Amino acid sequence: MSETPSLAETKPLPASPAAEGEKRVFIKSYGCQMNVYDAERMADVLAPEGYRTVETPEDADLVILNTCNIRERAAEKVYSTLGRIRDMKKERLAAGGRDLKVAVAGCVAQAEGAEIQRREPVVDVVVGPQAYHRLPELLKAKRAVDTEFPPEDKFDHLPMADKKVLQTRGVSAFLTVQEGCDKFCTFCVVPYTRGAEVSRPVDKIVREAEALVAAGVREIMLLGQNVNAWHGAGEDGESWTLAGLMRRLARVQGLDRIRYSTSHPRDMDDELIAMHRDLPQAMPYLHLPVQSGSDRILKAMNRKHTADEYRRIIDKVREARPDIALTSDFIVGFPGESDADFEATMQLVRDIGFATAYSFKYSQRPGTPAAEKENQVQEPVKVERLAALQALILEQQHRFNAGTVGKVLDVLIEKPGRHPGQIGGKTPYLQAIHLDGPTSLIGQIVRVEVTGTSTNSLAGRLI
Ligand code: 5AD
Ligand code: SF4
Repeated sequence: MSETPSLAETKPLPASPAAEGEKRVFIKSYGCQMNVYDAERMADVLAPEGYRTVETPEDADLVILNTCNIRERAAEKVYSTLGRIRDMKKERLAAGGRDLKVAVAGCVAQAEGAEIQRREPVVDVVVGPQAYHRLPELLKAKRAVDTEFPPEDKFDHLPMADKKVLQTRGVSAFLTVQEGCDKFCTFCVVPYTRGAEVSRPVDKIVREAEALVAAGVREIMLLGQNVNAWHGAGEDGESWTLAGLMRRLARVQGLDRIRYSTSHPRDMDDELIAMHRDLPQAMPYLHLPVQSGSDRILKAMNRKHTADEYRRIIDKVREARPDIALTSDFIVGFPGESDADFEATMQLVRDIGFATAYSFKYSQRPGTPAAEKENQVQEPVKVERLAALQALILEQQHRFNAGTVGKVLDVLIEKPGRHPGQIGGKTPYLQAIHLDGPTSLIGQIVRVEVTGTSTNSLAGRLI
């Protein structure tokens, strides 16, 4: 799965260029990177309807909350945000202002369906992750709920944004190549909300990548809940895996950096590992969730691999690309997790040494097998384990960042920095870095000496 460090709300889409007779849409995404991508595609399908994106709900004629329900607080946040939107709409109408339509999209929409409208009648449209290409017609109805897994492929019905709009979105872009999951980890809602595993065809992915690059994109993050399970018919008539797709995309002129997220250990095949050695465009960064270091817990989670199998995969990856930055996801307090099981997770983290990692307290998700288990771990134990694990991970993150100080790295400059005269970008290891330099360098890959670190970013100097 592709997930941001926390369930922090992601930044709204940047405002698109103004036009006459326009309607304004504000889209807010929660959760994973795929939701950020979906939000862009919702904007794309609404653009021909006359909508342009704006950065605050107060400016909008339509507000879309693109939601996540991987852990519980996310859904609660959605309901409290809906409450605020309801109040805003009431005040606006009382003051004689414009009407406001409200839509809930994403995985909470899929899971809760019409219940959302019962709980918050301000919601006009509820639309799931596989049906949002139908937004224009749904918005024409007075009230609508669409949580189908439709037979048609939504991607075939989503227009590509025009170049001007793409340019507002920056030089690093997301591109969904695979969606859904057939693995059914016992804690996870994804197979139910996103549906079965589907890979998009090569030609469509290549065309989308070419359009992004033509608009100035230099780096693409290929997205999928199980992105390394991607497979498809290649242009040579052979069946390709993700490695083949990466090699094909590397031939798109101007596409300098390719990443992918999120992977499953069971799909980490030798061809993909070799690709990290052979393909210069493949960035030395791998997010490979392991969830736990205890074989007993891994089995109960239905991960279908052991901790040592994971260690061996990492050994092979490091053999192919010794400098690779490794990251992972962990769940603490899965039902039945003992002190010894948790210690096995800590040991795995110590053994591997991550560049960073995301860790979560287990959250009971309705409808998933683990939620029914009676041996749930008590909250205080989860809190304590999470703190211990996060302290260890943070220590490793510091060590990894400190290890890059003094090195000269290729940095893709993405945006103006926090202070005037500063610019910001990313190292090959996906570290954020700030340096003095002109904004004319945005979109370029420049050599930068790393001069220092703080918790979440590096400082550097142009060479
Ligand atoms: N409780 C806690 N964490 C979860 N994740 C997925 N489902 C749950 C859950 N029920 C975490 C996993 C996954 C990441 C995206 O979210 O670590 O890799
Ligand atoms: Fe969820 Fe497991 Fe599928 Fe990832 S692999 S989306 S954790 S069921």
